[in-house]
Amino acid sequence: MANIVWKRSLLCAFFSNAKIQSVISKRNIYIKEYFTNLICLSHQKMYQTIILGSILLISLYISKRIRETKLNMPPLARYKIPIIGHTYSYIFNSEEFIKQCKKEYGDIFSIYVWGRVRTIVGKEYAQEILSKDDTFSFFVAFRKRFPGDVLLKNLGAISPIKLLKEHVFPKLNFYSERMQKSLHPATQKYIDIDIGDHDEPKVFNNMYYLMARIISTPIANILIGEVNDEIITTFAEFTRDLSIFLIIPPFLDFIYPGLQNYVNRIVIKSGLYNPAIKHQDILIKHIKKQACKRLQEKEKYGDSWKRPDDFLQDIMEQDGFDSNNVDYSSLADRICSLLFAAIHTTTGGCANAFMDLASRPQYMQELYEEQLEVHKEADEDGILPFEALNKMKKLDSFIRESLRLTGHIVALEHAVLKDHTFLNGLQVPKDRLVYVYVDDVNQDESLQGPNPKSFEPFRHVDANALASKIGKNYMPFGGGKHACPGRYFAINEIKFFMHNVILKYNFRTASGKVEERRRVGPLALPSSGAIIIEKRVK
Ligand code: HEM
Repeated sequence: MANIVWKRSLLCAFFSNAKIQSVISKRNIYIKEYFTNLICLSHQKMYQTIILGSILLISLYISKRIRETKLNMPPLARYKIPIIGHTYSYIFNSEEFIKQCKKEYGDIFSIYVWGRVRTIVGKEYAQEILSKDDTFSFFVAFRKRFPGDVLLKNLGAISPIKLLKEHVFPKLNFYSERMQKSLHPATQKYIDIDIGDHDEPKVFNNMYYLMARIISTPIANILIGEVNDEIITTFAEFTRDLSIFLIIPPFLDFIYPGLQNYVNRIVIKSGLYNPAIKHQDILIKHIKKQACKRLQEKEKYGDSWKRPDDFLQDIMEQDGFDSNNVDYSSLADRICSLLFAAIHTTTGGCANAFMDLASRPQYMQELYEEQLEVHKEADEDGILPFEALNKMKKLDSFIRESLRLTGHIVALEHAVLKDHTFLNGLQVPKDRLVYVYVDDVNQDESLQGPNPKSFEPFRHVDANALASKIGKNYMPFGGGKHACPGRYFAINEIKFFMHNVILKYNFRTASGKVEERRRVGPLALPSSGAIIIEKRVK
């Protein structure tokens, strides 16, 4: 239609002639008739589709209800407002609400949130969810909420998890020097530059974004070698930009569960909004430049060429990699998927640990003394051997305590892949979403020791419990077969970062108080409170 209007105005502009005008208006009548017929026809079809679709949905719903009524399902907490159910309490008062539900309904219960019944599982049965990967899936639950496959549509069949397990995680020892060599200058760049040469204390507001840049630098270096500011920005901001699809409340799910994700996918597919594109373009440009340079140098220098040791080079040397026909979009998407798993999680852990220490400066001296001792093993460039990480026992315990008290009330959302009977006889149906009540795990004295909810930084020192050691009392990295494989990498990076800043700076909260986590419904984010940093006087 727009095309016709455009053509008509063009014709009129050139020939303002009555004959032409009359021909055009006659043709317009035909067009109008044509469209009216078309709309009538499509209305008929549309009504047919709606009726058939509704019948299908109703029969699916009835058959699902018949199947579910045969199960011994967890009690559904009472609610007063239909459709809204428990959504309000879950979002605005999750800690108290879930605690009350557990008190009233027991270890496993269901709530009605965002148009869907969801099951919350307390500490007694949490391991069942994490250990049975044929029944519960973190990945499937994530896919139901996040349109990752349309954002990264060139990911291909190769699993990035497999690539990480083959090429990055077995080389943590080798990468530890590189990690420090890029982490320390990045810390210097983003913290020292602002402090300048003066020894005046400096206030930093919302350290998270700064921290994301610092944490991204070694990860970028290990994944793709040479980096620049544009790449660091992409690494640091990719997850934040895409998280919009997780942050926007799923209001459409009140109409039909899953509708919000469906609409999000249409928005991305139709090209209306896709926050991944600008980052993919930057990565493609950069990877292409790097890969071409490497291929040319290899050709030129032959056997004497020193291959760069990073993830990109490992992928380029895999069987099936065709250097004459490189699929850069697929390479970029594989890197993007790793950013989603690695950057925001490690940044969050690091920001929390930093904030927790700034909130409790009374522990600074003890940690400083440990780092000073450990630093005796550093070489002339200040680089520590990999083994030195094991000697940061107090720091490790501090980081574990910070991760333990990450602050989520319920987390580790899993989709049920087939009907399941818990050990207490309660059953959840296929397709149900289940969550671990992690605050229940953290509140338990028998699992955590005395004062389970209070931050006691050295409680793990003699407990043979490293920050990376998962278990039924510690779930920031999930558990079972799919427990986070990147946890050793993440803990190493946080330790190297903390070691360096404890030796160089004194830091405290500007408020002089403990800065609590920011609550977003049942989840928690690092505090954005201001921090005062000053250079340490040696
Ligand atoms: C403090 C930092 C991190 C936290 C808190 C964290 C947390 C998690 C959690 C909760 C899971 C789900 C586990 C489950 O299903 O039970 C997970 C999975 C995963 N994480 Fe992490 N992660 C962190 C850092 C990293 C890093 C640095 C990488 C990569 C370099 C990474 C790669 C992965 C991968 C590939 C998976 C999927 C594992 C699978 O499905 O088998 N993570 N992570």
